[in-house]
Amino acid sequence: MPNKKSTTKKSTVKKRAAEKSVAAKRTAKKSAATSPAFRVRQSGIHGRGVFAVKKIRKGARLMEYKGERITWEEAERRYPKDPVPYHTFLFEVGDGAYCLDGVRRGSPAKWINHACKPNCEAEEDEDERVFIVARRDIAKDEELTYDYNLTFEERISKAEQKRRYPCWCGAKKCRGTMLGLKK
Ligand SMILES: C[S@@+](CC[C@H](N)C(=O)[O-])C[C@H]1O[C@@H](n2cnc3c(N)ncnc32)[C@H](O)[C@@H]1O
Ligand SMILES: [Zn+2]
Repeated sequence: MPNKKSTTKKSTVKKRAAEKSVAAKRTAKKSAATSPAFRVRQSGIHGRGVFAVKKIRKGARLMEYKGERITWEEAERRYPKDPVPYHTFLFEVGDGAYCLDGVRRGSPAKWINHACKPNCEAEEDEDERVFIVARRDIAKDEELTYDYNLTFEERISKAEQKRRYPCWCGAKKCRGTMLGLKK
């Protein structure tokens, strides 16, 4: 019987915005472009990814991470078993009780891969909407990435972190895992 309260299992892995700030909405500049600045295609990092089709300026707000807003309890019901290596379209929002399920009513943002030295950032505004914003100027054909900053409450060895949540971003200082540094 599921707990009535929206709790998270110890094993729940959460993808979070790097910044949760009211400033996010104000500071992100809207892209002046009328045609999309990106497209989804095969990635060298993993599966599909999202790529710039033109030069993107630092600060440009590129797209919203959309998805059905559900509790983690519901997420665990939908996705009871974590595959190894891990694969998720869930994005944690708010105080941690809810997430966006990109599989349902998602947007192209769900295809953006993680990187340890990313060119974008996921920012959550005061309405708990998540936007992908360029952290620096991005050249045409570059793959868009942000740091998933996955959190995982169980204590597991470094080797196990890399086995379950590997990172293949290829950065010089790749952490070897999509897990973030605990805050
Ligand atoms: C939201 S999907 C991103 C789209 C994904 N490439 C796909 O085709 O399904 C997130 C999943 O992609 C994979 N992924 C993303 N970035 C990765 C990376 N840097 N290294 C390894 N796998 C990655 C992981 O399985 C992750 O859970
Ligand atoms: Zn990496």
